[in-house]
Amino acid sequence: NSDKSLILVSNRLPFQLLEQDGKLLLKQSDGGLVTALKSYFNAESNRDVFKHKKWFGAADFPEKRWNKFKKQSSVPDDFTVEPLFIETKVYNKYYNGFCNATLWPLFHYFPSYVVYDQEFFEKYEEVNKIFADELLKVIKPGDTIWVHDYQLFLLPQLIREKMPEASIGFFLHIPFPSYEVFRLLHRPWKEKIIRGLLGADLIGFHTHEYVQHFLKTVRMVLGYDHHYRTIAMQDRLVKIEMFPLGIDYEKFSTASTQPEVTQQMEAITRNFPDKKIIFSVDRLDYTKGVTHRLLGFERLLKTHPEWIEKVVFVMVVVPSRQIISKYNERRMLIEENVGRINGKYSTLSWQPVIYRYNHLGFEELCALYHVADVALITPLRDGMNLVAKEYVACCSEQQGVLILSELAGAANELSEALQVNPLDADEISQAIQQALTMPVEEQQRKLSLMQKRLIDYDVHSWVNDFMLQLNDIKQQQKAEE
Ligand code: UDP
Ligand code: G6P
Repeated sequence: NSDKSLILVSNRLPFQLLEQDGKLLLKQSDGGLVTALKSYFNAESNRDVFKHKKWFGAADFPEKRWNKFKKQSSVPDDFTVEPLFIETKVYNKYYNGFCNATLWPLFHYFPSYVVYDQEFFEKYEEVNKIFADELLKVIKPGDTIWVHDYQLFLLPQLIREKMPEASIGFFLHIPFPSYEVFRLLHRPWKEKIIRGLLGADLIGFHTHEYVQHFLKTVRMVLGYDHHYRTIAMQDRLVKIEMFPLGIDYEKFSTASTQPEVTQQMEAITRNFPDKKIIFSVDRLDYTKGVTHRLLGFERLLKTHPEWIEKVVFVMVVVPSRQIISKYNERRMLIEENVGRINGKYSTLSWQPVIYRYNHLGFEELCALYHVADVALITPLRDGMNLVAKEYVACCSEQQGVLILSELAGAANELSEALQVNPLDADEISQAIQQALTMPVEEQQRKLSLMQKRLIDYDVHSWVNDFMLQLNDIKQQQKAEE
């Protein structure tokens, strides 16, 4: 058993620490990044490779509350969460500013939403430096540092400057856009971002397409070419590779054996007897295509009135990044559309859209996946989309149809889903009609093929694959010296 540590770094920590009536509560954070890293963190595997696992992230709770929590709870010594407490004013300009009002819209192909603000970028640099300073206090030779996502593009190079030998991986959870879109960033930011990333030894993306976009961007911005996705920098080789993020298949496929999940399933089916259930769940984000999805569902009711009183669309939207105006506007737009559709089609005993605006716990989420006849997942852009994969894993009785946007990273692996253009209401409505009338044998055939793929490359394979390749590139670098 070596003394090496794995140091995970992401902006978002696995949980929020809430205080209610004097009691401290941990609430799991939303989003695919946390779901993925948490399954790995909690797993037994890899213990023999890394003695310690540490997860660094920005705290969204006060330091005093954290100290109180640490006193009350016993923390295992082989797994620690290390919150960084960043001054609110600085953090807001970094998180609500450069991360989510500049990078997020641009990387999801919403250039007209991009805010250009030099101060936002300066705070982004400042927060990346705070992360670097804190990490440099704890990293020991032999440790592996794995940085996650667009909030920390500058971090790999900041660590590299101080620790040239460090083993650093980076994984991007969102799309890497085509150079034609990336180039719309302010010139000095572009260069700093690419240089920041190239401080890593291995840079991972969800799909082949994102890898190609990144390689072209590196060539256009810095003039570096690659040979079989390896870039020869002056001091090091850097490898760029595809690692499509998987899910904890076992956890989702066996969820229905838990009594809490079965109870919730029964409660839902009792509420909607003899009705087909269409389900969707997303963070509230303009990239998720929720308003277009509603228009697609409305088109179905118009063109296939035989479904009136026979189908319900359970649509859950999880609060996210509420301070940013584009998010707030989106909420109003969604609620207007839900109200309009329900106003137009409801009868005294039926309502077509059941809309919820809150977070779902694991049990309720799995219960909904289980009872849903159709999952309607139609993001306008999505790095991967784990919800689609989780739905397929939960269809353990081999019934259910996935409708999936062709613009989600997951569409590459889930090719048996009914794939749609998420902007096209007619296509969405036709896909719903096809899903609602699909013979059971066809549902089974499609699900089995997709499930096999998800079992073969689950979240544990994803981590192991990344670690193996990081190790490989470190060996290659040594051989080149
Ligand atoms: N999720 C959750 N509770 C909710 C909604 C979502 O735990 O109420 C989880 C869901 O299981 C999934 C993740 O949040 O693992 C969402 O990941 P996805 O890749 O689909 O989208 P992201 O939010 O990362 O853009
Ligand atoms: C996406 C991003 C993650 C982020 C998550 C939730 O999955 O790729 O980095 O953590 O959304 O968003 P939030 O802003 O709440 O962390």
